[in-house]
Amino acid sequence: MLMGTCRSRCRHFLSLLDLSADEARALIARAMELKRMLRSGEEYRPFPGRTLAMIFDKSSTRTRVSFEAGMVQLGGHALFLSPRDTQLGRGEPIEDSARVLSRMVDAVMIRTFRQETLERFAAHSEVPVINGLTDRLHPCQLLADLQTYQEHRGDIRGRRVTWVGDGNNMCHSFMEAARLFDFELSIACPEGFDPNPDLFAAVDDRCRIVRDPAEAAEGADLVATDVWASMGQEDEQARRQALFAPFQVNDTVMSRAATDALFMHCLPAHRGEEVAASVIDGPRSVVWDQAENRLHAQKALLELLLLPMP
Ligand code: CP
Ligand code: NVA
Repeated sequence: MLMGTCRSRCRHFLSLLDLSADEARALIARAMELKRMLRSGEEYRPFPGRTLAMIFDKSSTRTRVSFEAGMVQLGGHALFLSPRDTQLGRGEPIEDSARVLSRMVDAVMIRTFRQETLERFAAHSEVPVINGLTDRLHPCQLLADLQTYQEHRGDIRGRRVTWVGDGNNMCHSFMEAARLFDFELSIACPEGFDPNPDLFAAVDDRCRIVRDPAEAAEGADLVATDVWASMGQEDEQARRQALFAPFQVNDTVMSRAATDALFMHCLPAHRGEEVAASVIDGPRSVVWDQAENRLHAQKALLELLLLPMP
């Protein structure tokens, strides 16, 4: 069984690479159309009586609210499940939870630690499973980010993107996006915080690692960053703060980028750490559009996974 499929032949979205390049582009176009429809007050409710279960092993604002609001707008319903008050938190096997939940709901979104946990759930689910962030990947965020780039600057194909900071889940999803959407990615991360070597090897024809953030940003069309310590790394915060200090996206770094370069951050952000306030609150920043587009891009994703093909 392919990772991106399930027993009843539904599809999962565990990684951006579960989409073909054509599907990914069509999804972005559809997200923009759904945004237009919502803003013009056009009613569109294809999911009456349908439920999305959302399992959160980590905190969330954007992912939770965008999926929940998105399901309601589409005429369905979303269910928030936390390990604190479900049997998942008391050791019920993930496979059993997948079998049970997928007999009751129409799709499941999971935010958890290990990608393997998500994959085990998906392998035993009869309904589509969506990656709402793991330690390895954050593909839903990239759908919103690519929509945001398209809205502001058009096609990202052939553009230069710079990632500054940790070689983390967001960096990995940018790497997969570089392959899917055909752009160049320069990654500026401190030594010892490189992206996963296996994931990098799959994209090394279009991604490079550069140690100097200003050099990495040279001529960039888009500069993106993320927190220095991700969820689950709270005890490394102090050590990372020292090591990552030269990797702040500030005006010096942005001055090396193209004059019309955009700045992105998946949020939540720490001003004065990974990004200077002058950058995130400045004219090149599109972070609020990115956050809003989580709603529209995920509605397009839910459509793709839940509506039968014409
Ligand atoms: N960017 C993002 O996924 O935000 P949340 O952690 O608030 O969901
Ligand atoms: N890298 C961050 C992303 C948060 C949306 C984390 O995993 O905590």
